Amino acid sequence: MKRDLLSLQDLKNNELVELLELTEQLKQDCHQLNNQLKGKTVALVFQKPSNRTRVSFEVGVFQLGGNCLYLGPDEINLGVRESTADVAKTLSRYLDGIVARTFTHQDVIDLAQHASVPIINGLSDLFHPCQALADLFSIREKFGKTEGLTLAFVGDGNNVCHSLLLGCAKVGINMNVATPPNYEPQKDIVAIAQKYAKETGAKITLTHSAQDAVKKSDIIYSDVWVSMGQEEESVKRLKDFAGYQINADLARSANKDYIFMHCLPAHRGQEVTTDIIDGPHSIVFDQAENRLHTQKAILIFLLAEKP
Ligand code: CP
Ligand code: NVA
Repeated sequence: MKRDLLSLQDLKNNELVELLELTEQLKQDCHQLNNQLKGKTVALVFQKPSNRTRVSFEVGVFQLGGNCLYLGPDEINLGVRESTADVAKTLSRYLDGIVARTFTHQDVIDLAQHASVPIINGLSDLFHPCQALADLFSIREKFGKTEGLTLAFVGDGNNVCHSLLLGCAKVGINMNVATPPNYEPQKDIVAIAQKYAKETGAKITLTHSAQDAVKKSDIIYSDVWVSMGQEEESVKRLKDFAGYQINADLARSANKDYIFMHCLPAHRGQEVTTDIIDGPHSIVFDQAENRLHTQKAILIFLLAEKP
């Protein structure tokens, strides 16, 4: 049976840890020839722009001996030029896997339902699982562990926040989420994360106070205030998020050796100041690099022939 990765809910806890371990091995061996996707073709069906996700998947597939096609909104206009179901059924006749970046999460669900090949969510309005996997790997790499650490997510309760909630809960990282009122993460996703957290002993706290969230944290995480597709709300959002900037004053209450994380792209001067994102605590480019290594592990996990 084919497997999809639409959300971190699709991975059992032990599979998630196995993926992180495989990533470590792939990162160490990145100069060795690896042909686990030889003869396979993966397409990126992207409805939104991308730097990291597109490039790291294209390079990752290449490094695994496979072939990659980029199909932007001008080629595949999901649900407009033809139905999402027809796209899924057609592409399944040519391809071995699809990475999809969509506006609504329902589109990745529909693709998965109608495709006979694995669908990987390369970002939807609800989740960004590939980002969260790279983030968990980056955290493990920096601290040598995950359990018992505390991550403060400050900003919008968005796709990145949702995937981090599920991922952190699964590996025992406590998560404090600080958002302005009305920008909290979705209740149903918080409830699923709470269930995972109960199993690992992690603690999830929602607050409107950035100070409370960051206090004594090991990791400060920030994302844009205006996600792709929300451009019309920009003026209101920039006003609503004004007190949620990561700056030196806020970071002072984190643990001394805290790390700063951001999925990128970043807007310096909005959600984070330049001195923080370009400062000594920031690991944002390690995170970006780790997208490549984690996604190679995902591709092997979902697409490679099992021995
Ligand atoms: N972090 C991330 O997914 O970046 P892109 O939007 O550039 O792919
Ligand atoms: N929340 C952001 C993440 C970009 C990688 C967005 O959806 O635009």
